[in-house]
Amino acid sequence: MKVNNIILIGFMGSGKTTVGKKLAQEMGWQFIDTDRKIEELTGLTITELFKASGEMKFRSEEALMIKKIQNQTQSVIATGGGTVVAQENFEILKQMGVVVYLFAPLDSILKRVKINKDRPLLLQPLPVVEKLWLERREIYRQADVTVDTRDKDAAEIVKEILDLMQGGSSFAAENRY
Ligand code: S3P
Repeated sequence: MKVNNIILIGFMGSGKTTVGKKLAQEMGWQFIDTDRKIEELTGLTITELFKASGEMKFRSEEALMIKKIQNQTQSVIATGGGTVVAQENFEILKQMGVVVYLFAPLDSILKRVKINKDRPLLLQPLPVVEKLWLERREIYRQADVTVDTRDKDAAEIVKEILDLMQGGSSFAAENRY
């Protein structure tokens, strides 16, 4: 199967950046982190952007960034946890290549990120974060393939993605998450 790009989606703290960097290295592809690109472009951190202009402004920067990278090839792209909530972004990303959902249960995400000041949405009360996780899961399930990250380190997750790429047809694997 010929794949132009690999796009990683999933909740905050699911390992998109760590896995994406390693995967890009293994494939000899470019690594693109859309949040970092937004930070470079605006000169503000995500937290500063949220504080200064609100989430809506961040979402419009995010949508612009997806359009900006849509002609990339041979890239591993780590998206922000909310990028694919906008269906328009999701459609562009689907056309760019294979979309991989990194599934992680909320308890392991919370353990992994602890109190992380760089993720404004995780600073909300737990029931709000739980609701977000449940709603997002329904959206992420539209990915081409899901990798369960539970009890796996980045190297194992990368290997699993590479195996799936070689298997080709495994991309139609049942989506249980
Ligand atoms: C967000 C996730 C963050 C970042 C922003 C909003 C979200 O990215 O884009 O804080 O809506 O889930 P990570 O998933 O890389 O933390």
